[in-house]
Amino acid sequence: MSSQKTYRIAVLAGDGTGPEVINEGLKVFKAVAAAESISFDFTPYDLGGARYLKTGEVLPDSALAELRKFDAIYLGAIGHPEVKPGILEKGLLLRLRFELDQYINLRPVKLYPNVPCPLKDKGPQDIDFVVIRENTEGLYAGAGGILKKGTPDEVATQESINTRKGVERCLRYAFKLTQKRAKAMKLTLCGKTNVLTYAFDLWERAFYEVAKDFPDVKTDYAHVDATCMWMVKNPEWFDVIVTDNLFGDIITDLGAMIQGGMGIAAGGNINPEGVSMFEPIGGSAPKYTGLNVINPLAAICAGGMMLETLGEAKAGKRVEATVIKLLESGKLKSMDAGKMGMSTSEIGDWVASQI
Ligand code: IPM
Ligand code: MN
Repeated sequence: MSSQKTYRIAVLAGDGTGPEVINEGLKVFKAVAAAESISFDFTPYDLGGARYLKTGEVLPDSALAELRKFDAIYLGAIGHPEVKPGILEKGLLLRLRFELDQYINLRPVKLYPNVPCPLKDKGPQDIDFVVIRENTEGLYAGAGGILKKGTPDEVATQESINTRKGVERCLRYAFKLTQKRAKAMKLTLCGKTNVLTYAFDLWERAFYEVAKDFPDVKTDYAHVDATCMWMVKNPEWFDVIVTDNLFGDIITDLGAMIQGGMGIAAGGNINPEGVSMFEPIGGSAPKYTGLNVINPLAAICAGGMMLETLGEAKAGKRVEATVIKLLESGKLKSMDAGKMGMSTSEIGDWVASQI
């Protein structure tokens, strides 16, 4: 008997439909555990909008201290219609990314077979790239302020923070991932060097310096606006894209749409030396809460990414292969909530049973 590895996973199901999709992801983890002789020890945390409304707590320091000790975090969705925008996003999601120094936001943009794509004449062979979004700096760092608020003289500033260390570690991760992927061996820096001549000057210099350590990776550059254009017109040009926090946020929503929508788009907030957090990148979709109609595949795929990052590549591939098998079967009529022809729990049951 081989010794069984037990992974300790914190589960933040969160708000809205988060708990429903996480529930299906957990079914899949249990099936994987049985099939691959690995085991999981799940610890739920009730962080999110409901707890905030009840107790005023967003992320207590004690919970944060505990979360630092897990092998990974599995997150559903954060966002509650009765909570003012910004409180949960900044106080919970962004605070976790920053405090746990999850400096990589890894978002694969991959069109699976049979998934409807809004781009004319594009198929799975054309849409298969990865976006690496810097996840702890840029305009998200919170630098700036408001002076003379509410008066005719008011001034608001919001500065993009780009540290050489933060940029370089993100670029190194991107080069390594491009090598590991071994597809087109091409890394595209997405920036705005024609206007943001300070921030992207640093990015660009660091990019070409780091590139010297990866002579087998082809370097490429595209402005962010052009990147949006190419993602629609010629998505097959991309292999790996690396970019800053805000540009990464924006282009990955576009990416999610060309891969079939929020129902299938997964992401990882990764600290390669620490605790990483995996999530479906769509929101909490409050209007579908409790209806058993939301697509859990993004959460299931996020679970597959979690397995890969934990070092269980075979198990991670097994999850992805099973999702592809479901899509190939044609059972699923759509990726969108309420139109799938299968319920949330039927999808989870199917994937778990085929693992
Ligand atoms: C995302 C989300 C978050 C972000 C929000 C909810 C703060 O849009 O994960 O992409 O902007 O990073
Ligand atoms: Mn976003």
